Amino acid sequence: MANFDFTKRDSFGSKMGIIAAAAGSAIGLGNIWRFPYIAGENGGGAFLLVYLFFIVVIGVPVMLSEFVIGRSAQRNPLGALKNLAPKTYWFLVGFLGIAAAFFILAFYTTVAGWTLEYLYLAVTNGFQGMGADQMSSMFEQFRTSGMRPLIWQAIFMFFTAFIVYRGIKNGIEKYTKILMPALLLIIIVLCIRAITLPGGGEGLVFLFKPDFSKLTANGVMQALGQSFFSLSIGMGALITYGSYISKKDNLGITAISVTAADLVIAILAGIAIFPAVFAFGIQPEAGPGLVFITLPMIFQQMTGGYFFSLIFFLLLSIAALTSTISLLEVVVAYMSEELNVNRKKSTIIGAVSIAVLGVFCTLSQGPLPGLRIGERNLFDLLDFSSANIMLPLGGLLIVIFAGWFMGVDKVFDELSNGGKLNARYKHAFLFIIRFIAPIGIALVFLNGIGILNFFSGGDL
Ligand code: TRP
Repeated sequence: MANFDFTKRDSFGSKMGIIAAAAGSAIGLGNIWRFPYIAGENGGGAFLLVYLFFIVVIGVPVMLSEFVIGRSAQRNPLGALKNLAPKTYWFLVGFLGIAAAFFILAFYTTVAGWTLEYLYLAVTNGFQGMGADQMSSMFEQFRTSGMRPLIWQAIFMFFTAFIVYRGIKNGIEKYTKILMPALLLIIIVLCIRAITLPGGGEGLVFLFKPDFSKLTANGVMQALGQSFFSLSIGMGALITYGSYISKKDNLGITAISVTAADLVIAILAGIAIFPAVFAFGIQPEAGPGLVFITLPMIFQQMTGGYFFSLIFFLLLSIAALTSTISLLEVVVAYMSEELNVNRKKSTIIGAVSIAVLGVFCTLSQGPLPGLRIGERNLFDLLDFSSANIMLPLGGLLIVIFAGWFMGVDKVFDELSNGGKLNARYKHAFLFIIRFIAPIGIALVFLNGIGILNFFSGGDL
């Protein structure tokens, strides 16, 4: 088979397209489901402040490092590191990223499938008249039932593959350009509905008034972990997207726009959820069930609840889809560029093999209880090891590579588009990726693997 023709490499067609696609990757279940519930468990406002700090000080620099590596090398993560550091072991970082894409996609599509079930329930008015207990047992029953979650997971994977199959310009870019603004619109409508609920003001106070007594050291670590997952950094998804960015685009501005969009959606999700939680007397620490158990409860008690639950779960599915396509794209870019398998075949092979792992993830929720190591079933295990081990380790290696091994000239060249832009921030950036970010990430990582596990409390 002929080698991959790099002169015919696909790319994003416009600046808006890149931002929509990268923001689409970042904005997902992490923002709308995970962020509010983790913020809720860690004191709301105080968590938000710390999260904000990490996003700016570590998140933006890691993201920018990924863009710099990707656009400089014009390759998938593995090829990029092989290209920039030939005859070294750096390519293993790319390999770690591709493995992470497999793991994350496997459990992420399980949850994404749940959003489709809930979209379906919303359409068919399936929540009607249920109390909190019924809602909770319905969710438990569904989650552990096997067949239904599997079907939704398969459907979700099919949508993901369908978009990736069509390539960058005509697939990912085309769809995210429509989907992302729709998402913003829907969430703004939900926010307006939430803050006009009687008693909703308390929720806003909770989200925005810092109460540092509720923030533990573990909460600080969780804020850093959440920033990694939410920004899609640490496994090369943004190296891959970066490789499709035009040499004329400003990488610094792109990274800041994407980060800002991700942050805005997380905060809007908080604004949509907390007033409703307080208005209906539900605990903000309700945890992972918040979206799938509590929100349908809230919706059905609202005027216009049918409509709002429908658009909410539509929003959640869209957000998840634009994230899963970025994960599958990593695998497809790798296979088509490094293994010379054409894009269509790569997409099918990638999607099917990840789906196989995904099936076991979903079944480990109930029908196959033996699929576990200790406390964790396969689903939890993949979730835990990707977020707490693979992403921090990958991110750490990525900034170290960009800061110390890639070559300052090359890095500055990408930041300034070959000297055409001023990029006055470049020295500060270099300092951060050499020192600040690696140290910060190392702390999360050590906590993740348990070496720094001084604090009680949940996983990252
Ligand atoms: N950021 C997405 C979310 O918040 C998930 C995601 C997509 C992701 N691509 C990723 C996480 C790459 C880590 C790495 O839901």
